[in-house]
Amino acid sequence: ADLASRNTFGIAARAPLLVEVDDAAALPRLFDSGVVDAGDPALLVLGGGSNLLFAADPAGPVLALTARNLEIDAGDGDGVVVRASAGVPWHGFVMHTLSLGLCGLENLALIPGTVGAAPIQNIGAYGVEVRERVHAVEVFERATGQVRRLAPEDCRFAYRDSAFKREPQRWIVTAVEFALSRVGAPVLDYAGLRDELAATGIATPTAMQVAEAVIRIRRRKLPDPAVLGNAGSFFKNPIVTSARAEALHAAHPALPVFGGGSDAMRKLSAAWLIDACGWKGHRDGDAGVSPEHALVLVNHGHATGEQLLALARAIAASVRARFGVALEPEPRIVGAPW
Ligand code: EPU
Repeated sequence: ADLASRNTFGIAARAPLLVEVDDAAALPRLFDSGVVDAGDPALLVLGGGSNLLFAADPAGPVLALTARNLEIDAGDGDGVVVRASAGVPWHGFVMHTLSLGLCGLENLALIPGTVGAAPIQNIGAYGVEVRERVHAVEVFERATGQVRRLAPEDCRFAYRDSAFKREPQRWIVTAVEFALSRVGAPVLDYAGLRDELAATGIATPTAMQVAEAVIRIRRRKLPDPAVLGNAGSFFKNPIVTSARAEALHAAHPALPVFGGGSDAMRKLSAAWLIDACGWKGHRDGDAGVSPEHALVLVNHGHATGEQLLALARAIAASVRARFGVALEPEPRIVGAPW
């Protein structure tokens, strides 16, 4: 099966078998039938393909969960739990919850991909991570065939990381429950978001207005994968000790440094480090770096996954040589080690 339209880099990868499952309750039957082996380490579960790079063709079958059910459990108070199946497209879901007057996901508007993929890398943007809104994650446990409902504590969420990302063979995410609220409490920690709202004269934004501002910022800064193949940020912002961050900042006062989750750690802007090494807008054939954002690798047409991976490695090597900082890829790389 051709996967070119199933990954946002637009890499022309091929899978030996592609299975679409429109009801997660059918997974036991699929695995019992022997068509796909639940224990196959090469089995790849694909969502919107917006956070992976095919460095080679996948060696095993590809599974796509396509169910798009929504259930809304309105309690007595302001809290509302919304359950969405894994195949629901993320951005449409966010806008739908907002149109129902439910607040909480507005900062995460316009992120490509599916609901089922959201907890895997703990998607985050403009001051909010999805972990803060996850009520439970429903999974199919491959080793036992059991359906389990994991509480947020069981998901071991961290910056762009989770138990699902660390142990990709263990579970298949079938649905996610989100804890939303009828009462808005805008998160305006990200300065660029505050500026965007101020520029339109909005002092106390509704959740929908926050989403609209996020959409404008994303459209300005990030290439649309439908137009230019990409997987968003290709590297995580590196987390280093505070001492290391201070030393780097003293040597390079323009380097943006953010909180790193604890007093001891700081997060550095990978985009700035890459930009400082001169990569922004660089192009090797069809593999390139976005001219708008140094953290985004792009496919200008017919780049292969290998070419994009080679470019990513060259970028990481130059950042290491110049700043002594190791960059780690954010997307999952299929078919090659980092
Ligand atoms: N910058 C540069 N050169 C550039 C671009 C940015 O020097 O070409 C500097 C600027 O100083 C800018 C700073 O980097 O202020 C940070 O840039 P930006 O606000 O775009 O955020 P980011 O750290 O690059 C992260 C997430 C994005 C998310 C934004 C907004 C990661 C790896 N990326 O990017 O997430 O949308 O913050 O919250 O944490 C993604 O994960 O795919 C993604 C797009």
